[in-house]
Amino acid sequence: MFTLIDLPYSLDALEPVISARTLEFHHGKHLAGYVANLNKLLPGSEFEGLPLEEIVRKAPAGPVFNNAGQIFNHNMYFSQFKAPGKAGESGAKPGADAPAGALKARLEAQWGSLEAFQADFEAKGAGLFGSGWVWLSADSAGALHITQEPGAATPLARGLRPLLTFDVWEHAYYLDYQNRRPDHLKALWPLVDWSVVAKRYEAE
Ligand SMILES: [Fe+2]
Repeated sequence: MFTLIDLPYSLDALEPVISARTLEFHHGKHLAGYVANLNKLLPGSEFEGLPLEEIVRKAPAGPVFNNAGQIFNHNMYFSQFKAPGKAGESGAKPGADAPAGALKARLEAQWGSLEAFQADFEAKGAGLFGSGWVWLSADSAGALHITQEPGAATPLARGLRPLLTFDVWEHAYYLDYQNRRPDHLKALWPLVDWSVVAKRYEAE
C-alpha cells in the first residue's frame, strides 16, 4: 500500500505563487486520488509489492503507469520546494536559493548561465501542449537534459535520473494564475530548494 506523502512545509508556505487553496487540492485531492487509485489497481497484479520506482519503470501504458507515474512525479515536485527566504517548519534551515557544486558547474557548462537554463526550462514548460511536466534530469554520464513529459510520463521510465520538475497540469496553477502558465513557471524559481536538487544530482 502506498501512502500520501506529508508536505515538508505548511499549506500557506508557498504563498502567493502556490496558494494554500491550490496546495490543499493539489496534494490533498489530486495526489491523494492517484494514491488511492494505484492502491486499488495493485492487488493481484504483477506489480503488487514492488517499489514505486520499479512500477514506473516496468508498467506498460495504462492505468497502473498513469497513477504510479503521477505519484512519483508529484512526490518529487512537492518535496523540491521551500518557503522562500524563510526557515522551514520546526526551525529547519531554509534551503539553498541557488544551485551549487557539481550541479552548478554542469548547468553553466551546458547552458552558459543559470538564467539561460531557467529560460530554456520555462520555455519547454510553457510549450508543452496540454497536461504534463517539464523535467530536468541527468543521464548516467552526468549530462543534464530538459524534457517535456505529457500526462504522467517521467524521465525515470527512460532510465534518466529525475532532478527537478514543474507541473504544467492546470490543477497546479489555475486557481492562482488561470491561463498564465508562463508567468506561473517564472514565479516558481524562488520556491525551488536547490539543496534538494543538488542531492538528487549527487545521489549516484
Ligand atoms: Fe499535479
